[in-house]
Amino acid sequence: MPIQDVREWISQTEDMGELTRVDGVDPHLELGGLVDLYQWDMENPALLFDHIKGYPQGHRLLANVFTSMPRVALSLNMPVDLGRREFVAAWRQRLKEIRPMPGQMVEYGPVLENRMVGDEVDLTKFPAPLWHTHDGGRYIGVGDIVITRDPDTGWVNAGCYRVQVHDANTAGIMISPGKHGRIIREAYWSRGESCPVAVSLGHDPLLLLLGGIEVDYGVNEYDVAGGIRGEPVQLINAPYTGLPVPATSEIVIEGEIPPNEAHPEGPFGEWTGYYAGGERDMPIIRIHSISYRNNPIVLGCLPGKPPNDNTYFRSPLRAAMIWDELERLGLPGITGVWSHEAGGGRLFNVVSIKQMYPGHSKQVGMLTANCPAGAYANRMVIVVDDDIDPTDTNEVLWALNTRADMIDDVEVIKRARSTSLDPMAYGDGEGGRYYNNRMVIDACRPYERLGTFPAVARKSQEEARELRDRWPELFTPDGKVRRDVTHASHLEVP
Ligand SMILES: Cc1cc2nc3c(=O)[nH]c(=O)nc-3n(C[C@H](O)[C@H](O)[C@H](O)COP(=O)(O)O)c2cc1C
Repeated sequence: MPIQDVREWISQTEDMGELTRVDGVDPHLELGGLVDLYQWDMENPALLFDHIKGYPQGHRLLANVFTSMPRVALSLNMPVDLGRREFVAAWRQRLKEIRPMPGQMVEYGPVLENRMVGDEVDLTKFPAPLWHTHDGGRYIGVGDIVITRDPDTGWVNAGCYRVQVHDANTAGIMISPGKHGRIIREAYWSRGESCPVAVSLGHDPLLLLLGGIEVDYGVNEYDVAGGIRGEPVQLINAPYTGLPVPATSEIVIEGEIPPNEAHPEGPFGEWTGYYAGGERDMPIIRIHSISYRNNPIVLGCLPGKPPNDNTYFRSPLRAAMIWDELERLGLPGITGVWSHEAGGGRLFNVVSIKQMYPGHSKQVGMLTANCPAGAYANRMVIVVDDDIDPTDTNEVLWALNTRADMIDDVEVIKRARSTSLDPMAYGDGEGGRYYNNRMVIDACRPYERLGTFPAVARKSQEEARELRDRWPELFTPDGKVRRDVTHASHLEVP
């Protein structure tokens, strides 16, 4: 049975031994601080906070959600025992099979168990930590999905955009240019109308994952989630706006984003690792209704210096997306893609190829740097040969240092698509800095020297496999050296 909501996700994560419960934490920097420490190292457990100081017992917060490969896989309804490269291959295969499945509208869902309307609305009742030391306020939407409907086509989009608590019935929302929620919002504003909005603050992490990564323009994230789950997402019409929201959502705030109204928002510690966006005037959500389950759970997926919870899942998903796009463009010979953790799954992308013609590697690099899945906020693309594992930083750096010519193999692309969260972005135009310069490095052996390039002074994979097979007592089943062996002998005893 696929996961339906955050509660089932918590229970399955606990069964996997990947959840730690923490009671009695202070939401003023202590909660966020613990989450920060937990996400420094990947594979640490998810954190479920209860008895949060200043909030009713049972009003909980789940954080450090996607910082392990098994939890990313669990959320995507995939086998939980795959390594990173195997996961990318398996996920690409799944993507080919998945057929979007429209959400199923139902009359009632647990999210309607409680409701505040009009003067009763009080957003401050729900846990909203001051996450990072220099944040400009308390953020409640750090794992949300923001639901809007295109006024012309009726397309419903669900995207994850940060939401700050300003007061009981006002929140701030930061949506970068080009994001779908912003395009829809601007369509209302261009008619002089407010944009109706519903924000789910806790839900099946699959919905956060899809809301937090580029799903094609015009495609509904619920439909994709249904395809991944293998059954439709159950939705209700949210009581104030009528927008479709998950029936099992924990908390749904509803209201409008009025044109020509703004409030200082930020700074907020972001996925690039800096408070780079600073404090700026941003649109607000005027909240008219809050629906919520008994003992609601806020979902928090904290950005910060990468890798972090906000970016870790991007590495395998973006790798698969870029790989698919390159193949759709007709490029042959792609053998691997990795969107490195240190680059937050956007800044630093590596592609490995089997070179098939002169100029192949440069072509792959230039297209990767500007294909739809790889363009936003990218800073560097490196193309390597197929003997290099693109997920292995040491191998990539070795190829870079021994196969790239630092004049012929380096290209710079100027005024490319970025975000104010990128500290090296520029173009202080209206509203922010949105361009960056990026580098494409061809770190493949020169095509014309493929036959004569010096041989690599290390055992090939095949030779290594044969040796391990001959000396199994020295190696673990997954091929690592056993450190507990003090003596191995193949001497024949007479
Ligand atoms: C936890 C999290 C927080 C995010 N915060 C923001 C944000 O504040 N503003 C923004 O524009 N994008 C943010 N993103 C990235 C967008 O969610 C992502 O680009 C997504 O593709 C947007 O949806 P859309 O393609 O439907 O516009 C965030 C992603 C995650 C996972």
